[in-house]
Amino acid sequence: MRYYFGIYHWQRRFRRILGGVAPIVLGVLLWRLARRNHLRVAALGLVFVGGRRIRGPIRSMLDPPPWDVRREKYEQLAMALSISEDDRLLDIGCGTGRSLVGLADGLPSGTAVIGLDVFDDRVILGNGPRLAARNARAAGLDPAIVAGDAARLPFEEHAMDAVTACRVLHDLPRTDAEAALEECYRVLSPNGRLGVLELPLPHDADAEPDTYWRTRIVDAGFTVTASGTDGGYLWYVATPEPVSSREPA
Ligand SMILES: C[S@@+](CC[C@H](N)C(=O)[O-])C[C@H]1O[C@@H](n2cnc3c(N)ncnc32)[C@H](O)[C@@H]1O
Repeated sequence: MRYYFGIYHWQRRFRRILGGVAPIVLGVLLWRLARRNHLRVAALGLVFVGGRRIRGPIRSMLDPPPWDVRREKYEQLAMALSISEDDRLLDIGCGTGRSLVGLADGLPSGTAVIGLDVFDDRVILGNGPRLAARNARAAGLDPAIVAGDAARLPFEEHAMDAVTACRVLHDLPRTDAEAALEECYRVLSPNGRLGVLELPLPHDADAEPDTYWRTRIVDAGFTVTASGTDGGYLWYVATPEPVSSREPA
């Protein structure tokens, strides 16, 4: 297997699978002990109920499978970012490296790539810098992997030419997502590009899902220069507005 990206949302999914395995085990035991037909029917019922319960979480664990990337959305984003070989690219919330792998084909060889994540393995089973580096290297990158918080980036201002945030902002509380976008603004060079790949999942129930992330990006001081959709995801490329045009008149 070339890549392994760990199991996303594994605690919730394993709990739901356990909740289905219990009736299956009970059903099998009952079947073996039962001497009467109505008990056997009950045993089959338990197995059926358990089977239905585990089907959902197993399907979602395999969508995509832990070794698959579903590259198209990342590739569209990478192309729109127009990275050149002297650029320094930071991928915040890189996790086990799926976004680094997905972006890799759109990066010229030699691009300096940094992946940053809090590496919280309560969300992704196996999340850690080693797995991120291994996957990224298998895609031909030579990344620096840094443990850190997207809302407090450990980099100087203007240190990056491009920053990507792929499928991470919706996982953060609203204030942290906003702080992360402000941090992207701070660390990007004046000619830098921000790339955001997100699900249409707003923090506020009454917000418009299709425009939510665009608004957050603009509020953080960027102008959106390109956008698109792929497989239910929205992507944006944006450039920082000059500081002078952000200051109140
Ligand atoms: C859904 S995964 C996305 C991983 C990868 N970017 C991708 O496209 O598959 C979200 C990642 O965000 C990370 N994360 C959550 N909060 C973070 C924070 N405050 N700073 C940096 N990374 C964070 C999680 O650890 C997880 O690896």
